[in-house]
Amino acid sequence: MEKWSSKFGFILAAIGSAVGIGNIWRFSSVVGQNGGGAYLIPYLIAVFLFALPLMILELVVGRHLQGNVVSSFGKIKTQFRIFGWAICAIVFVVLSYYLVITGWTLGYLVSSLSNSGTTFSDFTSSYQPLVYFVIGTLLTGFIISFGVKKGIQRISTILMPFSFLLLIILAIFCMTLSGFGEGIDFLFTPDFSVLSNPMIWSAAFGQAFFSLSVGFGVLLTYGGYLEKNTNIVHSSLIITVADISVAFLAGLIIFPIVFTFNLAPGMGAELAFSTLPLAFSLLAYGQVLAVAFFLLLFFAALTSSIGMLEVSVAAVMEKTSFSRRKTSFLLTLLLLLVGLPAALSYTSMNLSFFGVRILDLLDETLGTIGLPITALLTTLVFTWFLQKKVFTEELLDSKWWTKLVLYMTKYVIPIVLLITTVSQLVLNIDFAGWSLVRNVQLLRGAVSGMLGLVLLGGALGILLFIERNLHRYK
Ligand code: ALA
Repeated sequence: MEKWSSKFGFILAAIGSAVGIGNIWRFSSVVGQNGGGAYLIPYLIAVFLFALPLMILELVVGRHLQGNVVSSFGKIKTQFRIFGWAICAIVFVVLSYYLVITGWTLGYLVSSLSNSGTTFSDFTSSYQPLVYFVIGTLLTGFIISFGVKKGIQRISTILMPFSFLLLIILAIFCMTLSGFGEGIDFLFTPDFSVLSNPMIWSAAFGQAFFSLSVGFGVLLTYGGYLEKNTNIVHSSLIITVADISVAFLAGLIIFPIVFTFNLAPGMGAELAFSTLPLAFSLLAYGQVLAVAFFLLLFFAALTSSIGMLEVSVAAVMEKTSFSRRKTSFLLTLLLLLVGLPAALSYTSMNLSFFGVRILDLLDETLGTIGLPITALLTTLVFTWFLQKKVFTEELLDSKWWTKLVLYMTKYVIPIVLLITTVSQLVLNIDFAGWSLVRNVQLLRGAVSGMLGLVLLGGALGILLFIERNLHRYK
């Protein structure tokens, strides 16, 4: 199996897969919608206590079992390969619409270069989103076809340091804006009173997992390319700190602009593609800023897309024994097909299903519910079926980290994942009876909690049933 050429190369590749549109666009939009600094405490807890242990688990599993997502599940029990394929399929579809947004960043980069002042409706009412989706997808497949060292590692080693530099320059520029102080206050003033709101916690977990790319199988796959002497805990800490630093730096760029122009910080998804370009056009050196910002977004999105595609490429290569070139080529073609409806949903064709654009529909289903399921499968199977000594060995005999990782990924994370996922579902259902209750949020939280626990019991029951029966028929 191909390996990273150095620990540094691996760390940059993993940072590349983590840092993406999620850190820059989604983070600011989620922070804005959840009251700024209020969201900070739940977010940091979600990152360090939940996403970090899951990242360590994936790297441990990948390196120990020396496999991709499918073969790793298969090494636990042959029948579990199906879980690996389910993860590949979910991540592949998420990637297909992620690449549509990657295409938007490229389109906006090109339009900023020519200073054409394109608005989001101009952009999406043409066929440009489709064209840029195709370009982004071909580029991702092309880079993957060069392999771990010459493809993934090389591109991350070039693009990541450059992206950090761009971020820092942009953040320094935004310090000179009149809204800087207000932006800082909004982003960094914590609010302890919101900690009882389950919605904030749910948003924080979703964001932390998405932003660090945990539960996607990317880190498990990357872990397979890790040398034995790489310290997984140190590497994971560096990746996590780098990822949240990018998110905060992006906040330091976006919120000062928002407050300088008296915009609404909670406007959500519109921010990056509608409001910021307008604000850039009113600023001194606006064109340079816009180019730098969309270049940064595009690089971040591209390196994350590469990670997601590698999950399926590695699994299909092993299954079919096709060469990496051939596998990358075939999966890129498939990706173009699968992503086509999402790409067309934001063009003049406006492709929708029951009035919801296909891209949004996929994000609300697979993105919101599918990804927690992939994380849940990973935590349940690998913590309940792998022996504890694997963790102790891979974590270089650190008892403290082994305990923390196992305790969190075996018990706490599955429960929290189920409760937050079920609450997403329950909270989105508008049931007239809710309004009769005074503390609706709390009641919804309690109902979600109970449903979550019942589902978790069910999932564990099924796994244990499989385990028992497999032994019986061996
Ligand atoms: N982790 C990637 C992102 O933040 C998927 O966009």
